[in-house]
Amino acid sequence: MTAEEFRLLRDHVYSHCGILVREDMKFVMERRLWPRLEALGLRDFSGYHRYLRYDAQRRVELEAAVEALTTHETYFFREPNQLKAFTDEILPVLQQRNASSRRLRIWSAGCSTGEEAYTIAMLLQQSRRFENWDVEVYGTDISRRVLATARRAEYGPSALRATPPEHVSRFFVPLGGNKVKVRDDVRAWVSFGQLNLLDAEACQLVAQMDVVFCRNVMIYFDLPARRRVLQVFHERLVPGGYLMLGHSENLLNLGADFELVHLRGDLAYRKPEPPPRGLR
Ligand SMILES: C[S@@+](CC[C@H](N)C(=O)[O-])C[C@H]1O[C@@H](n2cnc3c(N)ncnc32)[C@H](O)[C@@H]1O
Repeated sequence: MTAEEFRLLRDHVYSHCGILVREDMKFVMERRLWPRLEALGLRDFSGYHRYLRYDAQRRVELEAAVEALTTHETYFFREPNQLKAFTDEILPVLQQRNASSRRLRIWSAGCSTGEEAYTIAMLLQQSRRFENWDVEVYGTDISRRVLATARRAEYGPSALRATPPEHVSRFFVPLGGNKVKVRDDVRAWVSFGQLNLLDAEACQLVAQMDVVFCRNVMIYFDLPARRRVLQVFHERLVPGGYLMLGHSENLLNLGADFELVHLRGDLAYRKPEPPPRGLR
């Protein structure tokens, strides 16, 4: 791959999905995309770039390229401190705030194979605060392949590596051969959809959310892409709604319109509530 081919491909991927392939990742890009060239019978990366721009199948191929370049690593009950703070400190607030509507909406943005969305639904069930409520956990990802796995809801030992054994017996049914399936009553609270977080128009169709989890997704984006995605979250959150990022992520230098919430065990972000009428 020449430097020019790298630049063209990298810019094309970036403008589609916000993922920035760093200069020093040229070799990784080459290795991950090479099977696509072979599958299409193309001889070089210039040809592949032309294919991505002009071929009738370009949209399908762009999905395959993004698929090859993205990291889908995830597992159940990832980042337990944050989940504990969410359960102990945020859920009581939401229960009180939404008591009259008895409705709760949580978005797992960049949900990969679904473990995060199901974990949230399991925590909601375990809390017993939302029985007979209208609850929806909405998992979205740019990759259709991971969403197919999420909908199947069948997992092996690696996905369960941080799941306490009592949760395994409570929330999963054994399938044999080391595999388990998420129980139907948990699945009933979760749905999935394909969504590119950089597609602001498509994101406008997402319902108003009480909480957005977007963990370990924006780490692959550069600053302008992060700003765009944060703008989307700001619009989709109800006033007072929470944004939960991964533990290595924060909103420093983003000038984002969120306030920092100090929970006992963790940090979260919140969309500010408008001041009471008389004070505006
Ligand atoms: C490392 S996984 C994170 C999974 C989960 N949130 C967690 O923390 O365990 C990152 C996911 O973000 C998705 N992703 C990357 N760019 C995206 C975009 N522009 N729109 C939506 N999803 C994206 C990838 O497909 C991948 O499944």
